[in-house]
Amino acid sequence: MEITNPEVEKYMTTLLENRAVIYKEIEDYAEGINFPIIEPLVGILLNQYSRLIDAKRILELGSGFGYSALWFSEGMNEETEIICTDFKEENRKLALEFFRKARVRTRIDFRLGNAIEILDELEGEFDIIFNDVEKEDYPEVYIKAIPKLRKGGLLITDNTLWYGKVAQQEITDYQTKGSREYNKLAFEDSRVLSVILPLRDGLTVSMKL
Ligand SMILES: C[S@@+](CC[C@H](N)C(=O)[O-])C[C@H]1O[C@@H](n2cnc3c(N)ncnc32)[C@H](O)[C@@H]1O
Repeated sequence: MEITNPEVEKYMTTLLENRAVIYKEIEDYAEGINFPIIEPLVGILLNQYSRLIDAKRILELGSGFGYSALWFSEGMNEETEIICTDFKEENRKLALEFFRKARVRTRIDFRLGNAIEILDELEGEFDIIFNDVEKEDYPEVYIKAIPKLRKGGLLITDNTLWYGKVAQQEITDYQTKGSREYNKLAFEDSRVLSVILPLRDGLTVSMKL
């Protein structure tokens, strides 16, 4: 099930036609190898949020080859640090190459390994934690990420409507269960104010109070 009507989504994406060429290059590459990226509509949202709260320290869980980090970095300078994480060295290499091409000015620290273990190890607070790992790990990410946010900071998680499957109670695969459980945690927790944005595959945005 598409969350947004495909024609409407296409229309919205055409409004971002003047985005930098590097985004299109990565989008084409991702499409060519059938790799899931956040795509422009979510990208611009991440950029808007980071500007809104003047984010200086951003942690990404599941960075792939840097498309989402590139959106976070747009308009930012060396005062902002983005910590990227991924399992795969080839993704890291590619990301660093795309960042170089895009002349990214933010500080980038790309760490290899399990993003959840890296989250555990990192000290200090974050302005934004962006979660894009496997859905079955979402509840664990939620529990570990909220204490690491500063007051007013945001935990943003992609694909939380999971093709609408979260609303179909008869669907009980581990990915759907992970997303459903994540949303339950985010909406029952009095430490945060959460909203689900039905954009693309759905994003849950939790602001720490
Ligand atoms: C959906 S892709 C996201 C790419 C990126 N956020 C973007 O939109 O450009 C998920 C990426 O997260 C990585 N990943 C998934 N679970 C992970 C984990 N637990 N630790 C580290 N990387 C993980 C995968 O290798 C993959 O590259």
